[in-house]
Amino acid sequence: MQDPTYRFCVAPMMDWTDRHCRVFHRLLSKHARLYTEMITANAVIHGDRNRLIGFSDVEHPVALQLGGGEAGPLAKAAEIAQETGYDEVNLNVGCPSDRVKDGQFGACLMAEPDRVAACAAAMRAAVDIPVTVKCRIGIDEQDSEADFQNFIDTVAAVGCTVFIVHARKAWLQGLSPKQNRDVPPLDYDRVYRLKVAHPELTIVVNGGIETLDESDDHLAIVDGVMLGRAAYHTPYILSEVDQRFFASDAPMSTRSEVLDAMFGYSAQHIRAGGRLNNITRHLLGLLHGQPRARTYRRLLSGVSMAADGGLDLFQEAIAIARLLDEEARPVGDDETLRSTPTAAE
Ligand SMILES: Cc1cc2nc3c(=O)[nH]c(=O)nc-3n(C[C@H](O)[C@H](O)[C@H](O)COP(=O)(O)O)c2cc1C
Repeated sequence: MQDPTYRFCVAPMMDWTDRHCRVFHRLLSKHARLYTEMITANAVIHGDRNRLIGFSDVEHPVALQLGGGEAGPLAKAAEIAQETGYDEVNLNVGCPSDRVKDGQFGACLMAEPDRVAACAAAMRAAVDIPVTVKCRIGIDEQDSEADFQNFIDTVAAVGCTVFIVHARKAWLQGLSPKQNRDVPPLDYDRVYRLKVAHPELTIVVNGGIETLDESDDHLAIVDGVMLGRAAYHTPYILSEVDQRFFASDAPMSTRSEVLDAMFGYSAQHIRAGGRLNNITRHLLGLLHGQPRARTYRRLLSGVSMAADGGLDLFQEAIAIARLLDEEARPVGDDETLRSTPTAAE
C-alpha cells in the first residue's frame, strides 16, 4: 500500500540540508518529509556521530540518507540510524560525483541492481524503519526503459516499497555533478509509467519541480514529490505544504514568526559554541520575490563578517520580515507565535 507520508519531501542536498536547515524547513512545514545530506555508511560507523548524524527532535519525520555499496556496512549504518531515532533510512543510488564513483556507490549502482537489492535486503533485515531508495532513471548508455524497470523490479523483490526517482539519467563520464542536475533532460513520463506498472509501490518523483502547483500536477499521478533546489532557494513555499498536501488546518507561519524561532534556536547554538552563520546562511531565500529582499539578504550575508557575532544584523533582518508581515496582515488578525525549537548540540 502506498504511504501517504511521502506526499511532499525535501531532497537530500550535500552542504545544504544540514540539521540547521532542516529545523528551519520544519518550522515552515510540520509534515514535509526531510532528508539529511548523504553520509557514507563508513562515516556513520566510524565517525563522530553527533557531528555527522545528530539531529533535533523537532525534525521528525526525518530520514538519514546513506551512501555505500556494501551490504555489511550499510546494514550496520542503518541500525545506527534507527538507534539514533531516524524515521527512515534512504540509500543513495543517484549521486554522480567522482568521489562517489571511486567508492563504487551512488548512481553507478544503477548498473548493478542485484547488488543494490542485496544491500537493501541486508538493511531491511537490520531495522524496522522503512528502507527506501533514491535513484535516477538510468545512467550512461544503460538507460532504456527495460533497464530501469529491471532495476526497480529487482530491488522491489527484496521488499523495498518506496522509490524516489530523480527523473533524469546521469552521465558518469563528462558531466559534473551540477551539470548532471540540469543537462540530461527530464522524463517524468518514465516515472509515471513506473507507477502504472507498480501501483503497489510508493513512487516519489524528483527533479526540476519548482512550485506547489507543479507538485499538485505530479501528485495526480504519483504518490509523492521531492523538491530540492526550489525548497532551498524559495523556502517560503514550504509554508503552504501542510494545508495543501496534508489536509492541515493549522495556520501558516509568517516569515517573522519563523525567523524569531530561528533566532532563539541560534542563541542556543551559539551558547553551545557554534557560529551564527552556520544557521543564517540557510535563511537567505526566505524573502525571495518580496519587497526589501535584497536588504534582508545583505544583512544576513554580513553575519559571517560581523565583529560582534552578527546577532544585531540578524535582528535587523528579522525587523524587515516583520515589516513585510505587518504590511500583509489583514486588519484585526493577531495570531499567536509558534514555540522555539531546541538546538541540541
Ligand atoms: C547542492 C546539492 C547537493 C545535493 N546533494 C545530494 C545528496 O547528498 N544526495 C542525493 O541523493 N542527492 C543530492 N542532490 C540532488 C537532489 O537531491 C535532487 O535530486 C536534485 O537537486 C534534483 O531535484 P531539484 O531539481 O528539485 O533540485 C543534491 C543537489 C544539490 C543542488
